[in-house]
Amino acid sequence: MELIELIDSTILSGYEAWEKLEELIQGGPWTTCAVLVDENTNKFCLPAFKELLPAIDFEVIEIPSGEKHKTLNTCNSIWKDMMHYNLDRKSLCFNLGGGVIGDMGGFCASTYMRGIDFVQIPTTLLSMVDASVGSKLGVDFEGYKNMIGMFNDPDLVMIHGSFLNTLPASELRSGYAEMLKHLLIADIDSWEKYSAAYDWRDNIDLENILHSVRIKKSFVEEDPYEQGVRKALNFGHTFGHAIESLGMESDDFVHLKHGDAVALGMVFANIIAHEKDMLSMEEMEEINDYLFSVYKPIEVPKPFWEDIFAYIVKDKKNQRGSILMTLLEEIGVVRVNIEVSPEEIFFALSAYNALVAATKKSKSDS
Ligand SMILES: NC(=O)c1ccc[n+]([C@@H]2O[C@H](COP(=O)([O-])OP(=O)(O)OC[C@H]3O[C@@H](n4cnc5c(N)ncnc54)[C@H](O)[C@@H]3O)[C@@H](O)[C@H]2O)c1
Ligand SMILES: [Zn+2]
Repeated sequence: MELIELIDSTILSGYEAWEKLEELIQGGPWTTCAVLVDENTNKFCLPAFKELLPAIDFEVIEIPSGEKHKTLNTCNSIWKDMMHYNLDRKSLCFNLGGGVIGDMGGFCASTYMRGIDFVQIPTTLLSMVDASVGSKLGVDFEGYKNMIGMFNDPDLVMIHGSFLNTLPASELRSGYAEMLKHLLIADIDSWEKYSAAYDWRDNIDLENILHSVRIKKSFVEEDPYEQGVRKALNFGHTFGHAIESLGMESDDFVHLKHGDAVALGMVFANIIAHEKDMLSMEEMEEINDYLFSVYKPIEVPKPFWEDIFAYIVKDKKNQRGSILMTLLEEIGVVRVNIEVSPEEIFFALSAYNALVAATKKSKSDS
């Protein structure tokens, strides 16, 4: 079992961790336990959860899967179910699922009766390496990502790699983007190792998952409420959130998974960093080539540029009307709060589209 202490919560991993969790649950003063799932984690993860914690009785609250349900409407139905099952201030909620379940379930638990205890049990790669670490909770609002929410610590985070056995490859790829993000901002040696692997899937094992968690932990501990260095973790998210939001709102733009959008967002950020004389041409090309070897290059046609710009302007990292981005100085070295002008955004959109077109051409030629 590995135990990672993170501010006021603890991250446990491995089989023995379940015994530890059972001990904690048995020892607690809990009146009711509830587990929040979506239809997929109900089918694929709840049976193992029950097997691993046979002595615990709990109510099951199910919501529909997907980012489009990460809304206050879904919170209403969760809060209603919590009332229906008589959850009170001594109840415990398990969030068994990906980042959507973790962010929204944690938010509902933290607001229900002014806050009840909760445990995050991430079941996607993305939620293991990123969403379940760092205590950010919340939902999307009016088409904007994570607009309503809070920071609040779970009692525990349980990382159990075998949940990944049923995860579709497309979801694994999405989570891998956040692992790469952690390396690009903090660990050049592992970046070189991962990007040299024959198949990106070879890089996904418990050891590398925990390595990713430790990198995130180091940024979170230094700056728990994202006043400064924690913004490093937003690398790739300015443009990433914009194209992810556009896909949710518009039927005419492709719907992207969070990590896939972040991967494209990292390409976009690197173009800007190079334009600003921060990132060298060689490193920009090295990173972008690798990202486009794992992630599908997606063009952002000109009619969408104003929409993308509007999302970028609403980004939570911005201050006093200025667009602030997280950019790489070099691989493993990141800088936050870099002011970017509207002209630089539009220039980067055009350069990004040109790179997508060139990459597609070279893929089709080979
Ligand atoms: N709080 C944070 O710090 C933070 C960080 C990164 C991302 N996020 C958020 O996380 C969300 C994305 O998380 P995600 O990628 O895990 O998405 P998700 O929760 O939508 O899960 C992806 C899909 O996988 C299914 N699934 C989950 N576990 C499974 C399993 N073991 N087997 C089979 N299917 C399974 C889900 O039902 C869903 O269809 C976004 O909303 C993003 O904003 C939050
Ligand atoms: Zn992310």
